[in-house]
Amino acid sequence: MVNTTQIEAHSVGKMFGDFHALRDVSLDIKEGEFLSLLGPSGSGKTTFLTMLGGYQNLTSGKLLLEGQDMTNWSAKQRGFGMVFQGYALFPHLSVAENIAFPLKVKKWSKAQMADRVDQMIEMVGLSGHAHKKPKALSGGQQQRVALARALAYEPKVLLLDEPFSALDKNLRGQMQEELRRLHRDLGTTFVFVTHDQEEALALSTHVAIFNQGALQQIGTPTEVYEHPANRFTAEFLGDINIMSLDAEKGGVAGTKIDLPANAFAFDHIALRPEHMRLAGETDVNKLPVTVRDMVYLGSKSRLVLETKAGEELMFYIDNGPGLPPPDLGAGLQVAWDTGDSFAL
Ligand SMILES: Nc1ncnc2c1ncn2[C@@H]1O[C@H](COP(=O)(O)OP(=O)(O)OP(=O)(O)O)[C@@H](O)[C@H]1O
Ligand SMILES: [Mg+2]
Repeated sequence: MVNTTQIEAHSVGKMFGDFHALRDVSLDIKEGEFLSLLGPSGSGKTTFLTMLGGYQNLTSGKLLLEGQDMTNWSAKQRGFGMVFQGYALFPHLSVAENIAFPLKVKKWSKAQMADRVDQMIEMVGLSGHAHKKPKALSGGQQQRVALARALAYEPKVLLLDEPFSALDKNLRGQMQEELRRLHRDLGTTFVFVTHDQEEALALSTHVAIFNQGALQQIGTPTEVYEHPANRFTAEFLGDINIMSLDAEKGGVAGTKIDLPANAFAFDHIALRPEHMRLAGETDVNKLPVTVRDMVYLGSKSRLVLETKAGEELMFYIDNGPGLPPPDLGAGLQVAWDTGDSFAL
């Protein structure tokens, strides 16, 4: 099962009038993957997802399902499950009836349907709520019903468009755990739209990053976070420190630095803040900086450091036992391992 390519997008494009909502998107989705489509608002995530589901036509390119051209298949022919951004439950139907709905459409027998509905209700932790109407449920509970309904007939692929965006932080965390568990237990392919970087990194086996209708990079969470393909991806996925290389490209801010291999071809090096530390005796890369600001965040504090070239770096220190935090204006030396830096 694992490693079989299930869905292929070949140069998929979408125009609305003369506006290019998506251009030239090519990617593969393997069976059982949890792929997140990640990008800022308006980057084309929903457009791509609805085209996968068959709810919207392509302007150019094609889509394959298990090697067959599905570009012109209807949503029904594709048979993917879909969870929309709102919960889109039928308000006049109970929880059980909502979940049974797609099974009814598929003409399951009464007995089969009842068994399956019970099983789904149990799976999403809603035992005891079967007879309630959606409006008698919390947001998280409604979202579980939407999930159960989409998974009831065991679709091969489940498409989810920001399913947790309306939930508060705690509930969101719970639902994320639930979704991970469902994915693990069912082995269904999930394609999940989000604009939340942490959510994408935490849930997915693979992340596809979109910006302005173009696919920027696709890879495992570690690949895209640790080895971003470009500046957009680097900055979009989390805090990043970017330093200009000196004109002769031997270092940064007048300090000689051991640079990553291809740095000569670029003007900047970049480094995630968590790969930066206070310099010790044996460190090779030691950059003198001045503390310009400090924000207390509970378990840690975020420092803004300024290099001799006037560039700002973000740096975190743990607020535990150990050294007291430095004073504003204090001079420090920070260090990092060359392999953790990359050229941009
Ligand atoms: N039916 C449509 N007609 C015209 N333009 C559209 C239509 N649907 C989407 N667009 C435009 O296409 C672009 C991509 O939209 P899309 O909904 O795919 O973005 P998104 O990445 O899902 O954003 P969000 O995070 O805000 O949901 C946007 O600029 C949007 O305004
Ligand atoms: Mg969207």
